[in-house]
Amino acid sequence: MEQRSLVILGISGSLRKQSSNTRLLSFVGGMMPAGMEFRMYQGLADLPHFSPDLDGDEGQLHGAVREWREELRAANAIVICTPEYARGVPGSLKNALDWVVSSSEFMNMPTAVISASPHPDGGAAVLQSLTLTLKMMSAVIPDEASLAVPFVSKMIGPDGNVTDTNTLSSLLNLVQALSQAIKGH
Ligand SMILES: Cc1cc2nc3c(=O)[nH]c(=O)nc-3n(C[C@H](O)[C@H](O)[C@H](O)COP(=O)(O)O)c2cc1C
Repeated sequence: MEQRSLVILGISGSLRKQSSNTRLLSFVGGMMPAGMEFRMYQGLADLPHFSPDLDGDEGQLHGAVREWREELRAANAIVICTPEYARGVPGSLKNALDWVVSSSEFMNMPTAVISASPHPDGGAAVLQSLTLTLKMMSAVIPDEASLAVPFVSKMIGPDGNVTDTNTLSSLLNLVQALSQAIKGH
């Protein structure tokens, strides 16, 4: 019998067309081993502003929220790659996460988190803040699946490939740690 691929959902925290985080995420998607299908979540900008008043019966939910939850439920693991905005999580990404606190899609979900920034600390503050939020939602984040990428503009070539050997090796470790977490799940 044919085995179904495992689904890895990529979520970029940047809505910018030329986003370095989205490009880095696509590159990571291309590193997934055989048997893993990488999909990119495209609906971040379509989600309404979260309000507990709107978060009730599934049948009454905004269509974009239903689709967001369905894409998460169809995933075996998640990779989030995000910029740091004013030392925190970009509002659109935090909004998306707030929509799934009550519905618990991140519960026990193997999750990798990457922050990428042109600055030397690679967005260490957003990585910390995002990790706190995801752990509050009981996501499983292996140590090696958490990575801050500094000087990101120099790390990605015009073809979208990462050439820096240290970053490449950290990304390989991240993909391996995520694969292990899926097996242990
Ligand atoms: C509103 C705003 C706030 C920012 N705040 C930070 C910050 O706190 N730390 C940081 O490292 N970079 C910060 N940056 C710079 C971003 O890291 C940089 O623009 C990055 O390229 C954005 O990611 P993207 O290319 O994926 O869109 C900020 C950028 C914007 C637009």
